[in-house]
Amino acid sequence: MNHLLTFTGPRTSPPPPMTSRQRFLDACHCLPTDRPPIWMMRQAGRCLPEYRALKQSYSFLELVRTPELACEVTLQPIRRFGFDAAILFSDILVVPEAMGQGYHFRETGGIAMDFALNDADAIRRLEPSAIEDRLDYVSKALALIRPQLGGQTALLGFAGSPWTLANFMLEGGSSKHPSRALELLREAPATFRLLFEKLTLAITRFLDQQIAAGVDAVQIFDSHGGLLPPELFGEGSGRWMREIIAGLQKKVPVIVFSKGTRSWKPLLELGASVISLDPKLHLSEIRRIFPGHVGIQGNLAPELLLHLSPDELRAATRDLLERMRGRPGYLFNLGHGVPPAAPLENIGSVVDTVRRFQ
Ligand code: CP3
Repeated sequence: MNHLLTFTGPRTSPPPPMTSRQRFLDACHCLPTDRPPIWMMRQAGRCLPEYRALKQSYSFLELVRTPELACEVTLQPIRRFGFDAAILFSDILVVPEAMGQGYHFRETGGIAMDFALNDADAIRRLEPSAIEDRLDYVSKALALIRPQLGGQTALLGFAGSPWTLANFMLEGGSSKHPSRALELLREAPATFRLLFEKLTLAITRFLDQQIAAGVDAVQIFDSHGGLLPPELFGEGSGRWMREIIAGLQKKVPVIVFSKGTRSWKPLLELGASVISLDPKLHLSEIRRIFPGHVGIQGNLAPELLLHLSPDELRAATRDLLERMRGRPGYLFNLGHGVPPAAPLENIGSVVDTVRRFQ
């Protein structure tokens, strides 16, 4: 008799469910997963009552610069919603600050840099070489966060793209219609290059620092990419992100979020593992166009969290999931950040729908 048929030991137990971290990393590498991983841009922040409670005692910059507090805020959305990835609580503007151009909040809303970069001398004075020291608090926060996630949840680091940071730095803060970076690109290419070489170096070193501190992946926020006319996207933003990604030498997956970039072709040339899309692009179309080795992240319109009921959100979420069914390398996310006024039960119904998807 075949001895295999007489085996009477315990039935082998089913494989343990995938951890969130493994699901996230496999999706970044375009490997099949049990379901798409989910996290949300701006998941840590004003939408959470526990964040607003901390803001009663500490300013935003205190939360960012104090490792224990940054750790706490990073973990808040994980505890509440069980996202598959935690994103470091920080801000893209810590990089200009560490180069010598600080920032603060305007009383009227928005962000003000302490001064604007008005001439080439101001750009020459920026100092990328002290980045690691000045951003040591980020390494310390990551060292606190990593063990708390216990290998179960992925940890994501991030930075702004050179183009996006340069817009804040040249305008002197948030601006409704930023124009000076584009002007510099068109009218003073040598000065533009001076600034962008410094930013590229600083951002590469900052992301490398986060990788050394244990992040599983990094995201580059090119939130102002859509300000560039398509024919200038490569020169104004793409080539610098490509240089940063090459500099990171594939140590971890890199996600690029380019907001408002209507032509997706240049995004495929950056060397990114995953492209995060804003809500205007149709995932079914992108799925047909993107090669199988590039991951796709996105792209539920954030304002739906404000305007739809939990049931309607379930349907909208399922619609995206169905469009991407069977496509390895899909990460569920919004098309931009969670609106601060998003009701918690709406966020919860999106998360729940993705987690139940089979
Ligand atoms: O995603 C996360 O949860 C992680 C933390 C994170 C923040 N900012 C926290 C934050 C991340 C990844 C960012 C990125 C960021 N910061 C971007 C790129 C992404 C995007 O949204 O386009 C940009 C452009 C910034 C610069 C910045 N920081 C702006 C324009 C503002 C808003 C200013 C305003 O008046 O509301 C911030 C502040 C900020 N960054 C907050 C948070 C939670 C709100 C701070 C508060 O009021 O408590």
